[in-house]
Amino acid sequence: MATIRDVAKLAGVSVATVSRVLNQNGYVNKETEKTVLQSMKELSFEPSQIARRLAGKTMKTLSLILPDISNPFFPELARGVEDIAQQHQFNVFLGNSDNLEKKEKSYIEVMQKKSIDGLIIVSNTVEEETIRKLQNAKIPVVLLDRPFTGNNCSIVRARNSEGAQLAVKHLFEVGCRKIAHISGPDNINPAYERLIAYTDMVSGHDWFSESLIEDGGFDIKGGREAMKRLLQSNADIDGVFAGNDLMALGALKELLQMGIKVPEQIAICGFDGIQLTEYTEPGITTIAQPIYEMGALATEVLIKKIQGEEHENKIFELPVKLIQRNSTNKNHVQMGGLAWRKK
Ligand code: RIB
Repeated sequence: MATIRDVAKLAGVSVATVSRVLNQNGYVNKETEKTVLQSMKELSFEPSQIARRLAGKTMKTLSLILPDISNPFFPELARGVEDIAQQHQFNVFLGNSDNLEKKEKSYIEVMQKKSIDGLIIVSNTVEEETIRKLQNAKIPVVLLDRPFTGNNCSIVRARNSEGAQLAVKHLFEVGCRKIAHISGPDNINPAYERLIAYTDMVSGHDWFSESLIEDGGFDIKGGREAMKRLLQSNADIDGVFAGNDLMALGALKELLQMGIKVPEQIAICGFDGIQLTEYTEPGITTIAQPIYEMGALATEVLIKKIQGEEHENKIFELPVKLIQRNSTNKNHVQMGGLAWRKK
């Protein structure tokens, strides 16, 4: 691949002159510039990303690392990131860590070598040291959705505790008198906050016991298995708050499979607000996070840092809202056994 020296030799100028033409800084007369550009074309010269970066030009690339792209929550989050990045002429490199610390670290190393301009990360495993090294390398970081304590960068997330309180309050309001919780993994910050908020809301009731809490792993299969265990230990539950919508989908599937009527016998409320919850029968009531807006805001914050317009670290906690559907509408008449229906 042709280098800047090959271009200088062919054009009969110095490397410094070629660099000035490349980076559009400093004086070059029109004839010389034309000769240099012609030489670049003849040699199919691509200015190295490093050369551009060393010249202090931002390379207009940011990176987004997500923990599980098979969960519809994350593509919606990525949509917000990508749209705002494009508005500011930034490209986005996407990495999927599968919640694996080793894979996440490998992505961060590769992206650092590609000299990205900034990083947005959704992680419950990234280490403080890793973030510090990135920031020392002048690569700002924004934590999205899943921060951990003690970090020294900006954070964008939803009000998880408030959302969990909203879910439990709604289940009480529709007549539930014994409410269980299918939680996400407790090493994931938002899942833990929702679990604590649920427990604070119900632990004072005489019917409460720890057997009303089962871990559903934040996925459909886990939600279904957790629902089965809950019914084995508490046959008289009449409401379930699932810590995300995929687990609520799994719980619904299990109940319908067992011939249990939703919501007449057991009402279900999820968390996230992914589109799938509109298409089940009954539709699933959920606590909707501003998913797209979270991704969009994280990107605005990061680009301001990349462009030197923002230096302090801030925490942005966005409001959530209850979306009521028939999985908690006690007056709802079950429409046959199908769990899925077209809109
Ligand atoms: O469904 C995925 C979950 O992981 C969401 O609740 C989101 O908050 C993320 O942490």
